[in-house]
Amino acid sequence: MTQNEFQRRRTFAIISHPDAGKTTLTEKLLLYGGAIHAAGAVKSRKAKRSAVSDWMALEKQRGISVTSSVLQFEYDDIRWNLLDTPGHNDFSEDTYRTLMAADCAIMILDAARGVEPQTRKLFHVCRMRNTPVVTFINKMDRPARDAFALMSDVEDVLGVSTVPFTWPIGSGDLFQGVYDRRNQAVLRFERSKEGQAKRAEMKVTGIDDPELDSLLGAEPAGALREEIELLDGAGEEWSEPRFLSGDLTPVFFGSALTNFGVEPFLQAFKHLCPPPGDRDAAGDVTVSPSDDRFSAFVFKVQANMDPSHRDRIAFARICSGKFEGGMRVHHYRLGKAIRLNRAEQFFAQDRESVLEAYAGDIIGLYDPGLFRIGDTLSTQGAMSFDAVPRFSPEHFGRLQLLDPLKRKQLKKGIQELSEEGTVQLFTEPGREKDPVCGVVGRLQFDVLMFRLEHEYGAKVTFDLLPYQHARWVDGAATCEELRARRVPMAVLDRDHRPVALFRDEWELGRAERDNEKWTFHETAPIVAAA
Ligand code: G4P
Repeated sequence: MTQNEFQRRRTFAIISHPDAGKTTLTEKLLLYGGAIHAAGAVKSRKAKRSAVSDWMALEKQRGISVTSSVLQFEYDDIRWNLLDTPGHNDFSEDTYRTLMAADCAIMILDAARGVEPQTRKLFHVCRMRNTPVVTFINKMDRPARDAFALMSDVEDVLGVSTVPFTWPIGSGDLFQGVYDRRNQAVLRFERSKEGQAKRAEMKVTGIDDPELDSLLGAEPAGALREEIELLDGAGEEWSEPRFLSGDLTPVFFGSALTNFGVEPFLQAFKHLCPPPGDRDAAGDVTVSPSDDRFSAFVFKVQANMDPSHRDRIAFARICSGKFEGGMRVHHYRLGKAIRLNRAEQFFAQDRESVLEAYAGDIIGLYDPGLFRIGDTLSTQGAMSFDAVPRFSPEHFGRLQLLDPLKRKQLKKGIQELSEEGTVQLFTEPGREKDPVCGVVGRLQFDVLMFRLEHEYGAKVTFDLLPYQHARWVDGAATCEELRARRVPMAVLDRDHRPVALFRDEWELGRAERDNEKWTFHETAPIVAAA
């Protein structure tokens, strides 16, 4: 039973720059997957957006979604787990860590913009685990860059090979649909009468379809035929192993808004997105999803999802075996057995309690303070998955407490929030009382101020520091030594490891060149063992 169940799991995330169309495509996936009946239900923007992940008061105030959540739906006898990654400008480290729990990613690009900064960062994180990435080039119904230029952009900026599975037929107002290269079929779409909320009707013809000439004009239709010939003759060969190792990305074109190209994308994605695979654990151990023994790791901890209860939920990704409510598992970091009671899963808009879940599934465990990011839970004894890394923050601020009488509350708050992974805490030797906070997205400073005040009663502010990069330094360097060797600021992380801070890549490169005896790491593993 367990065997079959994991094989029908597909756990994936969507990576994109804000506004590329993640919310719209998510909605269409749910629409086509039958989890919602009319698009518009997931929309979380502005006032009408009451997104599934709108848990925090702050999110409601700002009308944005700060936290990531998990959506689960059934489509074609497959259980899809979509890990939602915050897509607004100020995303957080959670976004990165969520990718550690995914087996595949959809990368959405805006056809007019190509690869944008946030996409690049998120892609880089996928690369770290060789996560396969499927590319969807969106907004083809608007003026778009040339399809070949978009592919070169992906190849040059991200360093990954591309194989177009579909090719756009026209663009902007003339966008008619896509050519499906694998089935050698022209898929023409029609805007549905009900608008974008319903699936688009699709007409299947061949590349010689004379209607293409009348719809596009004879010359553009001829050019399209030549492009397809060129791709078939000179394009990159499809290789599944290269895709699965993250080295090659299949590319699809479409328009999530009008549903053009969404269906062929979904059909192909169903076959491309791999089921849960093996996961590495410490000590050269590999855990197979078919192993009957339960194992999972925590990749996200979120407090106060329900304001009336002040609860914390730890999100765990199951890697093998079966979760059953009430089961006893070994908690590696604490070195003891614990009982897992209530867990939740997420079905489209609702949370519901789960009694059982399988490899590939994400469960939300009620957390009385037992869990930290990176924790391994298993029935396999003392086993620990490779730790979820800590990523280099990109913004730094020195914390200032506004009411000196609240130092105790601040200490507790900042401690808990750093365990939850909302912020990384650093100390500068000699200035221990004024910790330096590091975050991946600027908005996290607002989140911190809000939460420290409302949840812990400590009003704070931040003095922003001019650094953008943190590097964990190997090679027994001390902060004093680092500062003496062209590192503008050196701090200790919460595990007392030295971390060098830099204003820009140039400063970082110079320090690396001048200090070959040290290695500068972009991520630090979270210490898993107690
Ligand atoms: P995001 O989650 O990646 O940030 O993007 P989102 O889906 O919210 O899309 C950003 C904007 O782009 C939205 O418009 C959305 O309607 C539009 N959009 C998404 N996909 C397509 C597409 O295929 N074609 C076109 N033409 N537009 C698309 P908005 O006006 O900012 O928001 P809203 O008022 O529609 O919610």
